[in-house]
Amino acid sequence: MASSERSSRRLIGITAWSLALGLICLTLADSVPDRNQTTTIATNTVQAVERLFNRVLISTTEDARQRIPHLPANETIDRQYFEELDLIAGNEDYYSTAYYIFAWINSDLMYDKTPDKLLVEVLPGEKIAIRNFFDKVKPFLTKYLRTSRQDRSELVANITRLATETDDSLIMSYLEFPQTLKGQLPELHLMDYTKLAQALVQGVARGIWTSL
Ligand SMILES: *[C@@H]1O[C@H](CO)[C@@H](O)[C@H](O)[C@H]1NC(C)=O
Ligand SMILES: *[C@@H]1O[C@H](CO)[C@@H](O)[C@H](O)[C@H]1NC(C)=O
Ligand SMILES: *[C@@H]1O[C@H](CO)[C@@H](O)[C@H](O)[C@H]1NC(C)=O
Repeated sequence: MASSERSSRRLIGITAWSLALGLICLTLADSVPDRNQTTTIATNTVQAVERLFNRVLISTTEDARQRIPHLPANETIDRQYFEELDLIAGNEDYYSTAYYIFAWINSDLMYDKTPDKLLVEVLPGEKIAIRNFFDKVKPFLTKYLRTSRQDRSELVANITRLATETDDSLIMSYLEFPQTLKGQLPELHLMDYTKLAQALVQGVARGIWTSL
């Protein structure tokens, strides 16, 4: 009696467990591949956006670095900031520093001042690189939106417009892009491009940055 009671309880136990497993399998079969596909494409999208965004940072900082020796010292950012950049090993540290130097090179535009000689020289190539960025990033984002069944038509329309924009405002649209994307698609976690800027604000950045 006791033994059959125990075995029937065990049977109930197994049935409940089997049911749970069955339900999980059912859900897995039904929705997880979809979610997995979305996660994979989100990761791929983030990698593509970062790769394209970083390409602009690299091309502009390299262009500026090569022009420095030919310009009056009072018209340029000091060479040592680029040398400091070369010493950085971590990905986010590197690109948040490049982002900061990029903003510095373009600071006259941020503050509505007449561009200095360095910026005047760098600007045409920089704009081409940024238009190229918006042009190249668009198919990755539209594919992501399609797969994740989301509609961000204003964002896509802006990116389309920016891919042919010639106005200086293009530079700010580029600088603001990580924040714009975060506002529109927060699940796409780009690296923190403001890492160095935040460290400066918080007073934790050391070395040459503290003498700014
Ligand atoms: C998710 O997809 C990737 C690549 O398609 C695959 O390697 C991985 O095993 C999948 N994960 C799950 C939990 O199904
Ligand atoms: C740099 O120096 C030159 C020559 O002294 C001057 O004409 C120019 O306005 C200066 N530029 C800045 C940004 O101070
Ligand atoms: C699109 O661009 C307009 C004009 O610059 C701006 O006001 C708006 O916030 C942008 N929207 C998105 C989603 O980026």
